[in-house]
Amino acid sequence: MASNSQSHMSTPEPVSKAAGISIRNLYKIFGHDPQAFVPLVKSGMTKAELNDKHGHILGLRNININMPAGGIQVVMGLSGSGKSTLIRHINRLIDPTSGQLLVDGEDVVTMSQAQLRQFRRHKTAMVFQKFALLPHRTVLENTVYGLEIQGVSRTRQLDEAHRWIERVGLKGFEEKYPNQLSGGMQQRVGLARALTNDAPILLMDEAFSALDPLIRVDMQTVLLDLQKEIKKTIVFITHDLDEALRLGDRIAILRDGEIIQQGTGQDIVLNPADSYIESFVQEVNRGRVIRVETIMTAPQSGNNLPTVRFDSLLEDVMRKLVEENAEEINICCDQGRIIGQTSASSVMAAMVRR
Ligand SMILES: Nc1ncnc2c1ncn2[C@@H]1O[C@H](COP(=O)(O)OP(=O)(O)OP(=O)(O)O)[C@@H](O)[C@H]1O
Ligand SMILES: [Mg+2]
Repeated sequence: MASNSQSHMSTPEPVSKAAGISIRNLYKIFGHDPQAFVPLVKSGMTKAELNDKHGHILGLRNININMPAGGIQVVMGLSGSGKSTLIRHINRLIDPTSGQLLVDGEDVVTMSQAQLRQFRRHKTAMVFQKFALLPHRTVLENTVYGLEIQGVSRTRQLDEAHRWIERVGLKGFEEKYPNQLSGGMQQRVGLARALTNDAPILLMDEAFSALDPLIRVDMQTVLLDLQKEIKKTIVFITHDLDEALRLGDRIAILRDGEIIQQGTGQDIVLNPADSYIESFVQEVNRGRVIRVETIMTAPQSGNNLPTVRFDSLLEDVMRKLVEENAEEINICCDQGRIIGQTSASSVMAAMVRR
């Protein structure tokens, strides 16, 4: 069956345009009368107080995040910090107690049930931690599932499914059943199924957390490689900082339902907002997160030093210094013009600084 679809694969479908997500003043309180407690929470009542005095659970407090279209937004936090609650608001599997959730400027919160159904089917796809594959369906039949529900023609279902099965590295496994596959392979099916939907938004809640460490890193690589092509708006939940730093164009860190810091991985590693985040980032390999531009000094003209781009990671700059047997290195901009320089000892110092 795979070979039949080869001819179709040469004319890939246009990739859907990504959608930006803007979450504004979002509150979620769980309990029998959540609305009644919004004013108290807004005026500063803590999660513990709300629970102890009123038997309501504060899920999210005043969440504001702008997720630009086509980027990977990571949401990170410990267990119970509100990550799943947050991501489930994006396709309104959970209704907010108060606040707005704009996708391309349209508020998901005010959509009718019919609009919401359309939105979920066409704008969002999910990848789950537990894979959630249908056990009695083959890889191929699991992958076409979303398009089948959408009522797309069988030919198009198969074309799309074969294309993405191949892209996630599962060509040849189309007729296998989930229980014949390893965890990593099952999650590739989960990814292929989500991509086959061609929704502009991909929601991934701890999608790689159940995988062995090496397989997990493999899957991160698969996702990053794919993202260069698909450029979807990806919301990726994790409790693992290394994963967050590797995948996230932007990272938001949640604690007890509140965002305590958001920014690029570099922002967070260089300027942790408090001691809680500082304790997270202490173990990080700074050389893989921090760009050389952060330690750049004024350029010196007329040298023959090797050159790296401003956005090179410290680890790569160090490798270059060693390879070139150099003590200093030039830094250039996008267009190749020299804009600064740095030294091996500065790179070393920035890599180990705590
Ligand atoms: N339906 C619900 N009813 C009551 N409380 C809830 C409900 N769903 C979530 N909560 C509470 O909201 C808070 C956030 O839960 P959530 O599942 O979003 O956390 P999480 O960060 O995804 O955790 P984990 O890493 O364990 O998946 C927790 O205190 C949780 O107990
Ligand atoms: Mg969760």
